[in-house]
Amino acid sequence: MIPRYLVDFSLDKLPRVQTDVIVIGAGIAGLFTAIRASERHNVLMITKKSLLDSNTRYAQGGIAAVISDEDSPEYHRQDTLIAGAGLCDSDAVDVLVHEGPEGVQDLIQMGTQFDIENGEFALTKEGAHSQRRILHAHGDATGAEIVRALSERTKLSKQIQIWDDHIVLDLITYENECKGVLVQKPDGSRLFVQANATILCTGGTGQLYRYTTNPDIATGDGIAMAYRAGAVIRDMEFIQFHPTSLCYPGAPRFLISEALRGEGAVLRNIRGERFMEKVHPMLELAPRDVVARAIVREMELTKSTFVYIDITHESAEMVRHRFPNIYEYCLTYGLDLTSDWIPVAPAAHYMMGGIRTDLNGQTSIERLYACGEVSSTGVHGANRLASNSLSEAIVFGRRIVEHIASLSEQNQTFDLAESSHRPEGPMQAIVEKRLKLQKIMLRYVGLVRNGRGLEKGIEELKRQLSVFESCLTKREEIEFANLLTCALLASESALIREESRGGHYREDFPEKDDLIWRKHVLIQRDHGFTEERIHD
Ligand code: SIN
Repeated sequence: MIPRYLVDFSLDKLPRVQTDVIVIGAGIAGLFTAIRASERHNVLMITKKSLLDSNTRYAQGGIAAVISDEDSPEYHRQDTLIAGAGLCDSDAVDVLVHEGPEGVQDLIQMGTQFDIENGEFALTKEGAHSQRRILHAHGDATGAEIVRALSERTKLSKQIQIWDDHIVLDLITYENECKGVLVQKPDGSRLFVQANATILCTGGTGQLYRYTTNPDIATGDGIAMAYRAGAVIRDMEFIQFHPTSLCYPGAPRFLISEALRGEGAVLRNIRGERFMEKVHPMLELAPRDVVARAIVREMELTKSTFVYIDITHESAEMVRHRFPNIYEYCLTYGLDLTSDWIPVAPAAHYMMGGIRTDLNGQTSIERLYACGEVSSTGVHGANRLASNSLSEAIVFGRRIVEHIASLSEQNQTFDLAESSHRPEGPMQAIVEKRLKLQKIMLRYVGLVRNGRGLEKGIEELKRQLSVFESCLTKREEIEFANLLTCALLASESALIREESRGGHYREDFPEKDDLIWRKHVLIQRDHGFTEERIHD
């Protein structure tokens, strides 16, 4: 059983700090909402590392928004719904496609510089987009540019206080209202930060897998703490594997952007043969789940651990100009993008599920909001359309800030029962525990799943639950506990969904089953699993 809190504490004995709004996490969702919220409120931004450490920083492709005259919100809507494989919430998609362009204007106004060509925004295409609608920066360093601009803004604001290297252990709730958070300072001491509103912007769960495009901080902290606090969690079985991450001895699984395929790159097996022709009419730009599974199949057929991505037929000048970051990175491993085929394989990339929110980013707990990858707004359905995530963060970030402005001051007096006493002590071999978890996830809850494997995976994960018997103190221990929580939520949801759709593929139920399964799987700590039908 996953306990309500990770550590034992008595609220009365903890130092207390008061602010208007707490923002946890420093990716695009955290930075953007903090800046917007600071126009009206005092904001405390808490990061477990620093403002420059987030998944956003590694985003290459860009941000999808309807900018071109040839595009329309309706086209963007259709592309998003098709990629989402019948599980998108159409109201949330409408919000995204109509409010995206204004959000982009905000980003520009906050100092982000997107690439311009012939006096207009340069727009690229990625998988499953029918139009060129993806803005990018410095070619393939969009996330880094957004983080640069927004973090500079954040640091300048007198209304935003930043706590780096602080760990949020848990949400403090009382009668289904979030009162604030329990924080551990770098020296190990703890305090209670009370706020009128708390926004989780903690990103995804990439570290559930050994092979991931995500940095090591992507440990599902927000989802796990919201689950412990009783929030509704949704669609955790839908995990997106990016088809093309660098797969080269000694190199991390560096992202090789889908924009490469948008600009003409093709996939080849180790025999040099293209294979997407036999899989999907959109070829290399088919939805991500389709491309990722096709790659794995090709790897199996050719008994190889990778396939190649090939853009050598495009001009070397264009490739270097458009993908300077990927070009330079590959070169450090002796691979020249302009003349070599680059070995790639799928890697965990994005969690479609997360904390269920309404159209204002509000979770099922009052005064608790979720923004960005940690949330399940309903935009992505079973499979996220490329580059929709940065847009989702700004569109729903704006809405969250509007909603918070309408909140009354919350009642500050409440009586929280003390939690039980667990021994505090160093945990053995946490690195091994994390590797073991990642191994279980890859083996049983990867790109291709089946009922027997999922049962086995859940059984093995449950053996690790003893971690909750100690009072957790170190960052690695807390991250492991959060990862384990997310691993269980994902694998149990995957076992329940007996069909294949988007980012969830069951070889024992290989078809999409709209009659039974056009619905979400929800989980809540005290209520177990329930279902929610899709609203068109
Ligand atoms: C990419 O550049 O391929 C990743 C973009 C995304 O995941 O949205």
